[in-house]
Amino acid sequence: MLRRLHPDQPDTFAFTPDNQAWAEAQITKYPEGRQASAIIPLLWRAQEQEGWLTRPAIEAVADMLDLAYIRALEVASFYFMFQLQPVGSVAHIQVCGTTSCMICGAEDLVAVCKDKIASKAHQLSADGKFSWEEVECLGSCANAPMAQIGKDYYEDLTAARMGEIIDELAAGEVPTPGPQNGRYAAEPLSGLTSLKDFDSGHTKYNASVQLATDIGDTIKRIDGTEVPLLAPWGKANDNVAPSGDMMPPDGPDGKQGGRTKAEAPAPRARGAASDGKSEAPGQAPQAEAAAKPKLDAAVTESKSEQKQADKAVPAGTKPALLPEARDGGADDLKLIKGVGPGLEKELNAAGVYHFDQIAAWTDDEVAWADQHLVRFKGRVSRDDWVTQAKALSRGEQTEFSQRAKKDGIYKE
Ligand code: FES
Repeated sequence: MLRRLHPDQPDTFAFTPDNQAWAEAQITKYPEGRQASAIIPLLWRAQEQEGWLTRPAIEAVADMLDLAYIRALEVASFYFMFQLQPVGSVAHIQVCGTTSCMICGAEDLVAVCKDKIASKAHQLSADGKFSWEEVECLGSCANAPMAQIGKDYYEDLTAARMGEIIDELAAGEVPTPGPQNGRYAAEPLSGLTSLKDFDSGHTKYNASVQLATDIGDTIKRIDGTEVPLLAPWGKANDNVAPSGDMMPPDGPDGKQGGRTKAEAPAPRARGAASDGKSEAPGQAPQAEAAAKPKLDAAVTESKSEQKQADKAVPAGTKPALLPEARDGGADDLKLIKGVGPGLEKELNAAGVYHFDQIAAWTDDEVAWADQHLVRFKGRVSRDDWVTQAKALSRGEQTEFSQRAKKDGIYKE
């Protein structure tokens, strides 16, 4: 199937403030000059927020990473995990149609989708709640036939169970993912034949399903407020798991994601054992209960610190800008580390064409440029454009410019 951008696109895309902060933190995971590697998580977060990947979203992510738009589109159009057209507002069902699943009944699952959702793949159901498609092997062949719904796998399916799952989702519930025939994981259906002591101490569900039910965001749109920055490079709150607010939206019967609040698994402090003992339904572990207020306080504190920091940033002084490039044409600003094709266009549009312009910026002018010339605030000073531009304006090479010329980095 050709994977192309959908003809009807929204005009704009913007991450929610929380998702923006999350995305910026992801970028810091990668070494200098390799920030483009953050493209998969950023595209995925954009899709989690919107439900599908729009052209403005792909472009916004490319801009954040200084990538040519086509590079970002190549990634988005390659992986089936990225939806390039609107999907059902409740769920998009991806039925595996490869060998094991096909032999074990994938065609029957597709028939259910055609019957209950739409006759063709990628068509929305009449109520707009569902869509489906057939995909290649999802790597769960030992539990064939299976389907991915939202973020989770539903395995060992039958046509009847597939129909029930769609009905439950339509009713606002989220069926427990994993094997649907009583198996724990991928052991023989007749029971374990070895390692029989395995039963002692394991969690209610297998690790994948346990995590899915603990997090509870199988089909939920993510706006970022559910997911604190759980990373050492993040600001704070790095030791507490997401709060119970992460449960899917309430169903019509008052259940959350198919489980009532009382039934829902308690959120878990990060690093806490998931042995099922400390996480009895409805009982928040003590460590988590103690940590939760800290999380709230840290979020509040972090936000207020950020506001104060924003206020404290000096306004700076606008540097001299040019109406157009001087004779001889503009310099290749992409030879400055941190400037990609998108930013170069932005700089040119603002009146910055030459290395010597940037080389002459004072600290005050850098402060202004940090705030006004680039969307990713602070990039000018963080990547020290002035030092780079001084060398380049003298005709010298920087380590980055040598590499960029050699590898063709950022060339459109
Ligand atoms: S063949 Fe379906 S998951 Fe591999």
